[in-house]
Amino acid sequence: MGHPLRVLLALAAGIAFTDSFVYGLPSSNYVLHETRNPTGTSQVNSHRQWKRGDRLDRDAIIPLRIGLVQSNMHLGYDKLMEVSDPSSENFGKHLSEDEVHELFAPTHETFDAVHSWLVESGINATDIRQYVNKGWLAIDLPVSHIEDLFLTQYHEHEREGVIKIGCDQYHVPKHLAKHIDYIVPGVKLSPPMVKRSLERRTDTSSHNYRKGWKPKQMPPSLLSLSKKPPPSSKLPADLQDCARNFTAICYRALYQIPATSIPVPGHEPAVYESGDTFSQEDIDSYFHKYAPYIANGTHPKVLSIDGGEAPVPADSEFNTGESDIDIDIIQTLIWPQSMVLYQVDDRLYTTANNYSGFLNNFLDALDGSYCHYSAYGISGDSPGIDPSYPDTRPGGYTGKRLCGAYKPNKVISISYGEGEIDVPKNYFLRQCNEWLKLGLQGTTVLVSSGDYGAAMPSGEDSASGCLSGSGQNQTIYNPGNPVSCPYLTAVGATQLEPGTTVLDAEGAMQTNLGPGAELFASGGGFSNYFPVPDYQKAAVKKYFAKHDPGHPYYVANSDASNIGENGGIYNRAGRGIPDISANGANFRAFNNLRDGHWFGTSLAAPLWASVITLINQERAKVGKNSVGFINPVLYANTDALTDIKQGSNPNCGTSGFTAVEGWDPVTGLGTPKYPNLLKLWMKLP
Ligand SMILES: *[C@@H]1O[C@H](CO)[C@@H](O)[C@H](O)[C@H]1NC(C)=O
Ligand SMILES: *[C@@H]1O[C@H](CO)[C@@H](O)[C@H](O)[C@H]1NC(C)=O
Ligand SMILES: *[C@@H]1O[C@H](CO)[C@@H](O)[C@H](O)[C@H]1NC(C)=O
Ligand SMILES: *[C@@H]1O[C@H](CO)[C@@H](O)[C@H](O)[C@H]1NC(C)=O
Ligand SMILES: *[C@@H]1O[C@H](CO)[C@@H](O)[C@H](O)[C@H]1NC(C)=O
Repeated sequence: MGHPLRVLLALAAGIAFTDSFVYGLPSSNYVLHETRNPTGTSQVNSHRQWKRGDRLDRDAIIPLRIGLVQSNMHLGYDKLMEVSDPSSENFGKHLSEDEVHELFAPTHETFDAVHSWLVESGINATDIRQYVNKGWLAIDLPVSHIEDLFLTQYHEHEREGVIKIGCDQYHVPKHLAKHIDYIVPGVKLSPPMVKRSLERRTDTSSHNYRKGWKPKQMPPSLLSLSKKPPPSSKLPADLQDCARNFTAICYRALYQIPATSIPVPGHEPAVYESGDTFSQEDIDSYFHKYAPYIANGTHPKVLSIDGGEAPVPADSEFNTGESDIDIDIIQTLIWPQSMVLYQVDDRLYTTANNYSGFLNNFLDALDGSYCHYSAYGISGDSPGIDPSYPDTRPGGYTGKRLCGAYKPNKVISISYGEGEIDVPKNYFLRQCNEWLKLGLQGTTVLVSSGDYGAAMPSGEDSASGCLSGSGQNQTIYNPGNPVSCPYLTAVGATQLEPGTTVLDAEGAMQTNLGPGAELFASGGGFSNYFPVPDYQKAAVKKYFAKHDPGHPYYVANSDASNIGENGGIYNRAGRGIPDISANGANFRAFNNLRDGHWFGTSLAAPLWASVITLINQERAKVGKNSVGFINPVLYANTDALTDIKQGSNPNCGTSGFTAVEGWDPVTGLGTPKYPNLLKLWMKLP
């Protein structure tokens, strides 16, 4: 290793290099870059303080990583609009995976500036490594060299026997401040260095996150007293009872979806599942009874991610309905096209269900660069939030976390979610960007909006999930994640009202499904983290102008720390949820060999996944690209949807929101009119 850097020698001349230098006024060539925030509100477990210990041995060699500022973070949205907005010249001109990496990679200027500074400090250029996604420079250096480079001092920090290293603040040369995002180790502590002992855990309470918007069955007790029989009508027999027994034939009639299609290779839609696992016997029973043109044994292509396995026997405790029904709906409507199932995470993690991060491992498997990508001060997956691999516990998945193993499908359906507040804001922002990157590549991501109206329960079968503020006891609405991310399509649910037929107007899905689910209703509301995206602005503005819900509200600040301010119960300035909707009531399907009546927004995302797949195939046949991120097209062409104007999503002790004319935070823009959507997208380039 060479000498301490020339730059520093020059500027340190005449100044004693001591604490007072580092913590006093630094040289005018250097600027303070980061300082540890002792009360960082976004830090998980910030109440458990780390104690500062000894200074690090100046001769010790430690790994240094320098996060480079990624370019174009702010241009991502513009770029997504450029390829997704129907009025843009570049509509449909999606980017390749490499082009997306290039777009978000640090510029050459950034790389060169930081790299040459390191080389000038005496580091051999061949020792400096650059990560695949180009976001990081990595090098092993003596502590003394790093301390000189960044005008800082490293100390050990100890908590409960775990030692991490870090500094309280560090500086960078002025001309590099705009190029360096942050360094590790830095004011965020390093990964644990030594584990002295595994001491007792005092915190035994494990939080359970509700992740599957598990479709729910109507209990037989409620079925018998439910629902007026349909009026006698001229409809064919199999369409007369769709309000009580919804089937694939009802979907086709209601949304005018064609019964036949010609599959196009490469357009197999994908469904995300985690924890819940399908049973071949169940889907066979369903095909046999409700879609007899599909042969027994038909199943999705199972792509395992980090130990996920499928199928399971019908009576398995892991077969709870979500996967069976997602597969039933998509496979029936896209037949003879086949589909793909991503089964995510090993059984230990999905059974404990106490990690709030459930999508990062999935996204890592589709985008290898995401495994190490840094944004919003977070790099790679987050310990304690994301399941991590290898999982060395008995029965765990001992392989390495998958990075970039699968090519993203053109359509992905996700019927899982939790509360926005269940993950740190920066974690969510970073993840949301991945949906943006998928949109740039021409993938449509459809996510169901949740089933408890304005609330977002995080415990199994709990109807609560509303937030509390000062003076407000569980009366503040709780928007969901990932649906509130504006770069994906949020899907709510509708229903045929009792006693009506497919010729009548649908309302918002809302029904009493028994204890804990008395207010089972289409999830909707306004994000606390994301402002209204441009493509939605006119729709949301019109909603407030013509149909103000009348509830007290607040305007969330940038770190969403003022939720509930002024007695408000929702963020007036947030991204509205959902974007669209589709039937999610009384769907007939088998689970554990029992033929039930199923409800939930879980059913609506796969319906839309089928619709978009059929449209993509028609476009592919005439040489056009997949439709990609669909929101800008839909908000600009609302006549391709059926506006839903009745029903509501009450919760949190209030009436929630009401479905009205135009966009609303219950059913969004409404349900598909397949022929209109097809015509619209066939006209677009
Ligand atoms: C840099 O490292 C390479 C490989 O270890 C070595 O061949 C080369 O001589 C080194 N250059 C200098 C200037 O030390
Ligand atoms: C339709 O559902 C009702 C209950 O909602 C049930 O009584 C009836 O048997 C069902 N019809 C068929 C054909 O399954
Ligand atoms: C298909 O599977 C169902 C359910 O297991 C069964 O009732 C039916 O007889 C099977 N059909 C054929 C043709 O094997
Ligand atoms: C989840 O539960 C497991 C088993 O009880 C425990 O070892 C782990 O620390 C918990 N993880 C979190 C993030 O709470
Ligand atoms: C909040 O409401 C719940 C349920 O009504 C009640 O059990 C609890 O005591 C209330 N908490 C406070 C702080 O008022």
